Amino acid sequence: MWSSFTLFLILHILAVIVAFGPTFAFPLLGSMIAKNPPWALPLSEAMEQIELKITLPVAVLVPLLGTVLIYRHHWDLWRSEWLVIAIVLYIIAFSFAFFVQRPNAAKMVHALREMPPGPPPEGATGPPPHIAALAGRLRAGGMFLTLLVVTVLVLMVWKPGGAFTH
Ligand code: HEM
Repeated sequence: MWSSFTLFLILHILAVIVAFGPTFAFPLLGSMIAKNPPWALPLSEAMEQIELKITLPVAVLVPLLGTVLIYRHHWDLWRSEWLVIAIVLYIIAFSFAFFVQRPNAAKMVHALREMPPGPPPEGATGPPPHIAALAGRLRAGGMFLTLLVVTVLVLMVWKPGGAFTH
């Protein structure tokens, strides 16, 4: 039967798709930058804007809608290990995205804007070391966040050891 629970579950899953879906395309954009260095600035700006204007704000809605689901479906939070673990992992993921990944993405855009225009200097075999180091950190951070999001998704669907209050 259609209920407000169903509506909030749809909104919860929709928020998850909108927030995290685009980030699954970031590795593709990263490999496009590696093959076409002049695309580095526009594509890095696009990724930063997606993170700032879509992923982070909508990622705030996900747990709010999740909290509605906990009350609507009478989940006994403290006896539902899957939910507690998911919430802890989500807090880790959000904090990492906000306090580590977001500033690194901003540093990357800033460093690319500061690059002198024109072709790379004579003898250059790759990006300048500080840009390569930032790219490595962003790639590793992105993989860590993807792992956390996928783990939370598995817990949400599997719900091992779930318990209701009544
Ligand atoms: C703190 C954050 C979150 C909370 C509190 C939360 C809470 C919940 C709850 C209580 C349900 C169960 C609804 C039911 O009774 O059937 C649920 C379902 C679901 N959640 Fe979350 N959630 C959170 C984050 C996420 C994230 C990050 C994802 C995806 C990566 C996600 C994906 C899903 C999916 C796909 C379902 C549907 C599972 C099913 O019906 O089998 N949730 N969420």
